[in-house]
Amino acid sequence: VFPYEDPIDVAELLELDEPLELSAQEIKELLGPQVSEDRRERIAAVVGERTYGVIPVMEGLYDLGNVAAVLRSAEAMGYQEVHFIDTQEGQKTSRRVTQGADKWVDLNQWESTTECVQALKDRGYKICVTHLEAAKPLREIDFTVPTALVFGNEQKGVSEEMVELADERCIIPMLGFVESFNISVAAALSLYEAMGQRIEKFGAQGDLSPEEQEILEAHFLIRAVKTAPLLLPGLVRRGMGKGDESPQAD
Ligand SMILES: C[S@@+](CC[C@H](N)C(=O)[O-])C[C@H]1O[C@@H](n2cnc3c(N)ncnc32)[C@H](O)[C@@H]1O
Repeated sequence: VFPYEDPIDVAELLELDEPLELSAQEIKELLGPQVSEDRRERIAAVVGERTYGVIPVMEGLYDLGNVAAVLRSAEAMGYQEVHFIDTQEGQKTSRRVTQGADKWVDLNQWESTTECVQALKDRGYKICVTHLEAAKPLREIDFTVPTALVFGNEQKGVSEEMVELADERCIIPMLGFVESFNISVAAALSLYEAMGQRIEKFGAQGDLSPEEQEILEAHFLIRAVKTAPLLLPGLVRRGMGKGDESPQAD
């Protein structure tokens, strides 16, 4: 379920005019010196806690504050990939969401529920919708197998189409008078439960192999060094960035 390859197509990633493909190790050698040692260590530590094992999916959310809150919770708990299905007609959601997205999370955007679900199923994820009707309690869901966890619109919840396509439904038990949680609260509670199960079973939330961690570190370095699109082609031409004198760019 890890989505990146080595070597990395840097030209496509950074929209460069000329072809440029580099291995993760080469990118680390070239861009590593552009950030401080503390920053490098922090990137490595964060990558060590990352997982693609559970993927939060937001369907048709209206409030961009909620979208941002879910992204923030997901990032803070080590979930590296988040999907957003933009089914709100008339809302210029996509562009604004992209701009506000946390730069350390892989945000995939879709215009249709079917396409998103199919892509996730093709990658081996079961689809679990958070839903208030005919649903299993959250704790009975197995989050130690690849799972896409879907959250719905603030008023309407998840779509009927999504409910039909899903493999299972889950509910966070409601013990008070109110009928539902705010979406971002529901997401935080569910993602925390999933993280707890994963830590209990695997000993940690992060589950990337050393090779995958190196690739993700290279991607994070590209995101960290704002001037990477200008720097990388020049550094490659000059031979692996040794003795580079450019200022720290993080
Ligand atoms: C405010 S709720 C939507 C309520 C809507 N009336 C419904 O029937 O689904 C927004 C989203 O938060 C999540 N949610 C809120 N409370 C939940 C709960 N107790 N169990 C599971 N999901 C919940 C679901 O993803 C839901 O689609």
